[in-house]
Amino acid sequence: MRSVLITGANSGFGYLMALKFARNGYKVYATTRDLKREGVKEINEIALKERLEIEWLVLDVTNEKQIKEATKDIESLDVLINNAGFGMIGPIEGYSAEEFLLQVDANLFGVHRMVRRFLPMMRKQKSGKIINIASVAGRITFPYYGLYSASKFGVEAYTEVLRSEVRSFGIDAVLVEPGTFKTGFSKRVVEGEEDIIKEYEHVGKQIGMMKDFVHKFGVLRFEANPQKVADKVYQLAGQKVSKLHNFVGFDSKMLALLRKVLPDNLWDSIVQFIVE
Ligand SMILES: NC(=O)c1ccc[n+]([C@@H]2O[C@H](COP(=O)([O-])OP(=O)(O)OC[C@H]3O[C@@H](n4cnc5c(N)ncnc54)[C@H](OP(=O)(O)O)[C@@H]3O)[C@@H](O)[C@H]2O)c1
Repeated sequence: MRSVLITGANSGFGYLMALKFARNGYKVYATTRDLKREGVKEINEIALKERLEIEWLVLDVTNEKQIKEATKDIESLDVLINNAGFGMIGPIEGYSAEEFLLQVDANLFGVHRMVRRFLPMMRKQKSGKIINIASVAGRITFPYYGLYSASKFGVEAYTEVLRSEVRSFGIDAVLVEPGTFKTGFSKRVVEGEEDIIKEYEHVGKQIGMMKDFVHKFGVLRFEANPQKVADKVYQLAGQKVSKLHNFVGFDSKMLALLRKVLPDNLWDSIVQFIVE
């Protein structure tokens, strides 16, 4: 039986991935920070009804000790999906370095901790797939999504290098870059975020416009179902070697393409036009 570990599986993409993999015969190690989360309860009910192999591990990806303890009984792993993450929204100036660190700690260092936990095992196995959930915000930037983008640009660079370093061991590392999808992501407000936005009142309207623009872009898409991301990840997991970049969603594909073909100054003018 093939096995997969998915971080942040109690909500959003992770939740859908856990069910997708389990329904297709995988043994799923699903991580959550808290077994009391609604998504854990829901998945357990479904798993019981459908006799799915889903085991919960309690861990925060910012806590190395917890990662080691929670995963100590795993002896082999075919697929590692680094999905856990969140977004800090607001002007770059509003966040202290310590607050910024929280964003990078979860979204980028969290990936690194999980990779370091499972890479030696995969090297011994001479096989494995590492799928890192980045974002289109790891390819392009939007004003007021600076800290989030910085963390996801980091995941992009990290994965590109990792991929080149592990290929000779039979391991493949790839990126999935979703556009905007309705999950728990946009509902989460980071502690202090509202105060920061209030404090920087002069940009409040612009933040609203930017959020609105991102949302409208999402609505414009032909398919807004987050299941698309889970399906794509599942498809990649079954391939020995996949391409590095995997944009999911019309908005993601289009924005990544535009950023690639448009000269910097034109891109810059478009972004300024949107926020002004
Ligand atoms: N939705 C989008 O439009 C979108 C677009 C591009 C990329 N993404 C990326 O997709 C991934 C999944 O997000 P989602 O949209 O499914 O959002 P979500 O519904 O909010 O799910 C995020 C999951 O990550 C977990 N998580 C957050 N910080 C964590 C930490 N420090 N340690 C362990 N788990 C942690 C959350 O756990 P708790 O429930 O305990 O908070 C939750 O299970 C993220 O990396 C996000 O950046 C999302």
